[in-house]
Amino acid sequence: MHLEALLDLIKHSPITHGIAAVVEHFLKGTQALVPRLAVGACVVEGDGEAPRVAMLLPPECMPPVGRDPSRLFPGFSDEQVFELDDGLAGSTFHLAIPVGSLSAEERELGEHLQQALGSMIEHARDYHQALRKSEGLARTHGKLVQTEKLASLGQIVAGVVHELNNPLTSIIAYSDYLKKKTQKRGQGGEDVSDDLERLRRIGEAAERILKFSRDLVAYARPSTDIPGPVVLASVIEQAIVFCEHELGKNCITLHKSVEPNLPPVRGISGQLTQVFVNLFTNAAHAMHLTGGVLEIDARLASDEAVVVEVADNGVGIPEDDLKQIFEPFFTTKVDGAGTGLGLSIVRDIVTQHGGTLSADRRPERGTVFRLNLPVVAVPPSMRPPRI
Ligand SMILES: Nc1ncnc2c1ncn2[C@@H]1O[C@H](COP(=O)(O)OP(=O)(O)OP(=O)(O)O)[C@@H](O)[C@H]1O
Ligand SMILES: [Mg+2]
Repeated sequence: MHLEALLDLIKHSPITHGIAAVVEHFLKGTQALVPRLAVGACVVEGDGEAPRVAMLLPPECMPPVGRDPSRLFPGFSDEQVFELDDGLAGSTFHLAIPVGSLSAEERELGEHLQQALGSMIEHARDYHQALRKSEGLARTHGKLVQTEKLASLGQIVAGVVHELNNPLTSIIAYSDYLKKKTQKRGQGGEDVSDDLERLRRIGEAAERILKFSRDLVAYARPSTDIPGPVVLASVIEQAIVFCEHELGKNCITLHKSVEPNLPPVRGISGQLTQVFVNLFTNAAHAMHLTGGVLEIDARLASDEAVVVEVADNGVGIPEDDLKQIFEPFFTTKVDGAGTGLGLSIVRDIVTQHGGTLSADRRPERGTVFRLNLPVVAVPPSMRPPRI
């Protein structure tokens, strides 16, 4: 009879509802089985966390005195304490009787309940861990899908930009042709200065777009470059050109200071451009509501390294987030606006270049990213004075 009731209790354990629900279910079931007993359980959660105590008393019982988990029913004449399993260290199951002592049958029942409750709690714990993991996997999968989408979008954009080359080359060639023709007209005494100026502007604008599109296609191409000396000033300049639209759209002013004749760093220029594009884009996003100032400061830090600071006065990064921003997939941008991969890739690139990257909150407002990169060699004239 008891065995059947026990099996029933196990069968209906609400393990998908968590440990608290399982304990409550067992206590209620036990009390229904032997109403004259008081039953309780003390479950220790996590590492060293305070035990969660649950108990049920038959209506005629006095409330227990105190809440010492080792004795839930100190006022009772007989209390049997059953240790739950190893995985639930410190957790106990209690049977108590107000007067007299527990019968042998009640003690045996207690042992069965102890085992059943122990394994049900473990099942509930495992279930929730598995659930958390599978939710995490589903989130990661969603982010990977988004990343893939952005990568293919990048390829499409690179293809479209490449298609601009031919019409741009025609515009440049025809504006040149018209310029020469106009100059000839001018030689005949006609005033052509306005037309010449217009044609010069057409040619110049087309050259600018052509250069931009070529650089963009080169940037999008997978890097197969071998590391070599890279001039940081050019890399920073190129990254600014790529981000010009993003900065302009968000009303961001640029303050750039690059120490003249910085020695080259050793690396792959496409990858270093990627580093700055990411840092500038993040800064632009952080200032998109208010506008602001993007400060870029590159200087020699020592005989061996260059330091570049990229600072903004945007929303800033909360202290807790600072520890996570370099983790893959950490993002605070909503609705797929960011994949959260930018800074983790940036840090990998910087590490592969033998450098370091850190972020700090600025005292007044905003964030500063500090990038250290080893230089190829510093000529003595460039060495900072020793203090
Ligand atoms: N300059 C900054 N100011 C404020 N927060 C920043 C700044 N740079 C990064 N962050 C924070 O760090 C998070 C992670 O940045 P990361 O570049 O890795 O990913 P993302 O910008 O969210 O997405 P993605 O770069 O893939 O588009 C951002 O979501 C943002 O919360
Ligand atoms: Mg980013």
